[in-house]
Amino acid sequence: MRNKIKISASILAANPMRFEEDIKRIEAAGIDLIHIDVMDGHFVPNITIGPFIVAGIKQITDVPLDIHLMIEHPERYVEAFAGAAEGNGIITFHIETVENPKEIISLIRSTGMKVGISLNPDTPVEMVENFLDQVDMALVMSVNPGFAGQKFIPIALSKIARLRDKGPDKMDIQVDGGITPDNISQVVKQGANVIVAASAIFKTSDPGSAIKSLKQIAEQTMEKEAVNLVN
Ligand code: DX5
Ligand code: ZN
Repeated sequence: MRNKIKISASILAANPMRFEEDIKRIEAAGIDLIHIDVMDGHFVPNITIGPFIVAGIKQITDVPLDIHLMIEHPERYVEAFAGAAEGNGIITFHIETVENPKEIISLIRSTGMKVGISLNPDTPVEMVENFLDQVDMALVMSVNPGFAGQKFIPIALSKIARLRDKGPDKMDIQVDGGITPDNISQVVKQGANVIVAASAIFKTSDPGSAIKSLKQIAEQTMEKEAVNLVN
């Protein structure tokens, strides 16, 4: 039994001066999650969005927020981001940034947000294996985090398969980075069900139809694999 396909639109490739317009457009297309890339200029070489902007986004949408923390000391900011999201969505931290994963898992849980654990392309799956039964989602990075528009790194495929094998069936597996209509089937075949895309949605002339076609390809692939769906 596997969870159903969800598409998570990363606003990193949206127009920051027109978030409202872009968000309304993807909402109308039935987007499942809004992926918010939080970068601190330390863990990754880029700086993006803080709780202030997340709270603004929350004012214009009820779509659950998928908050991807690419920051050092994520535990310092969990409450601020959970508050900004009004407890509706998921907070994902990177295993490379914490000394005590159990502590941050309980901290995120205590805010009412769901919990995700993420790993970079160079980080082995073994690093997260002991925590899979405590999280709602594992996020496999298929690019080195920092920027939208990079090329998919195929090492992600075997990592997704291993996580699908080791993790509980009810755990979501998210993949993030370089996803296109041409490679989405490959990641779904390995077991990913929550698919992040920035460029493949916002760098097209019609983000709404881009979302629909990514979802359709992913769902058809999952059907072909004859996977029984839960929720
Ligand atoms: C990269 C971010 C991704 C990024 C994906 O560090 O975590 O979410 O926005 O962008 P695309 O889909 O363009 O690779
Ligand atoms: Zn991301």
